[in-house]
Amino acid sequence: MVVGSQAKSVETIVIGSGPGGYVAAIRAAELGQKVTIIERDAIGGVCLNIGCIPSKALINAGHAYYSQNHQMDSIMGVQSKGATLDWAATQKWKNEKVVNTLTGGVAMLLKKHKIDIVRGEARFNDNQVVNVISEDDSHLLEFEKCIIATGSRPIEIPGFAFKGRVVNSTGALSLPEVPKHLVVIGGGVIGSELAGAYANLGSKVTILEGLPHILNGFDKEMYSFVVDDFKEKGVDIITNAKAKAAVQDENSIKVIYEVDGQEVEIEADYCLVSVGRKPNTDELGLNTTDVKLTDRGQIIVNDQQQTSVPHIYAIGDIVEGPMLAHKASYEAKVAAANVAGEDMRNCAISIPAVAYCDPELATMGETIDTAKEKNLDFMVSKFPFAANGRAITMNATKGFIRILSDKATRVVIGAQIAGPGASDLISEFALAIENGLTTEDISMTVHPHPTLGEAIMDTSELADGVPIHI
Ligand code: NAI
Repeated sequence: MVVGSQAKSVETIVIGSGPGGYVAAIRAAELGQKVTIIERDAIGGVCLNIGCIPSKALINAGHAYYSQNHQMDSIMGVQSKGATLDWAATQKWKNEKVVNTLTGGVAMLLKKHKIDIVRGEARFNDNQVVNVISEDDSHLLEFEKCIIATGSRPIEIPGFAFKGRVVNSTGALSLPEVPKHLVVIGGGVIGSELAGAYANLGSKVTILEGLPHILNGFDKEMYSFVVDDFKEKGVDIITNAKAKAAVQDENSIKVIYEVDGQEVEIEADYCLVSVGRKPNTDELGLNTTDVKLTDRGQIIVNDQQQTSVPHIYAIGDIVEGPMLAHKASYEAKVAAANVAGEDMRNCAISIPAVAYCDPELATMGETIDTAKEKNLDFMVSKFPFAANGRAITMNATKGFIRILSDKATRVVIGAQIAGPGASDLISEFALAIENGLTTEDISMTVHPHPTLGEAIMDTSELADGVPIHI
């Protein structure tokens, strides 16, 4: 073991301060651990600085701008003279009022819990020691326990190195201007969310998707709403497209792609590549430890988030499962409890997934496809937002709520929402599924009126065979 005499002994280290790392650090501190958090970049990780949070800020700015210029004028009788966009002000608001507020809050919470923050990049020397390397310093920390929460980064594809006018999600959130034409390679969650945001902000957007359709995590009934919205806003979706190369100069970029055996060239201002993310495990020096990885570079953990080295835990995007902030935070609480000597298991039945498109899509638990694959005896009930009072007052009636329930017991086993507020509404299903509630439990729970949430009650009544509003 290379423990130099200069190695400082610490109790628990957490590597990474995203929604996995900072939650793990705080919970471990709450449970009595003396915690040191190591961060090479900004506190808050990708989610708070260059991911979930700033993207939602731009999505909301897009909605504000779009609704001023479109819907409200013609439908609700609100006459605006045509909104203008001060992009520099939008960026300033996103960075200073949104991102800084949240990252500052996290830094304060870490301080309040007396968590030491060490700046630098952690590399393992062995199962017990990390080297923390910063620009002007490098020092060893000998730890008793460790939680790795280093997250993930965007995948690059050949011919599209992230440089200049070829940007990843980070670059796309801080473009110097609203593009006149944005090409998006990869119509997954990131690609579709940002395509929608920029379309609302006035960009022409072209999505190049390698597969036959966009938003592959959602079924056709769901993603079709987004496709229709894109069509309305002039977004071109080119499916089965293979991006081949990019040629850029100071003012523009040419993207060359192949579709139906034909090579096509389009000119744009920027090209966003959003074809997936990969776990940040390759630069951690894990080969000096006994931590085992899958062949895709993910750390193998048990249901306590424990790696093959019992005092080293791993959470979030670097372990199996969807790369989602809320999954990382949940795993963080499990890992922290075990680090503190409790016996806690990861027993989440399902992780909700959301795409913040127009309309929002959300899913959790079984889908019709997965329930069929598993030969489950299930029933489906589906209620349209067009029959929900609140949705009508919002002029947001596109979409539906779908519940899958066990045929015999009516226990809710899955739910999908396409429509207004889907990202918030799905939490009611999270509670139902985690607690084995039936559709009757939901339908006989009093929901306030008029709310979008009533549609969940209505969908449950449908499953019970006694619908009132349809
Ligand atoms: P993704 O896996 O969701 O989508 C990537 C898309 O790119 C797929 O549709 C794929 O077919 C396509 N693709 C791959 N290679 C291609 C190529 N060479 N040419 C054209 N298309 C190609 O990945 P994405 O959108 O980058 O997101 C990464 C992760 O971040 C996901 O796990 C996602 O769940 C998570 N995320 C979640 C958000 C949320 O919860 N709202 C928001 C943003 C990201």
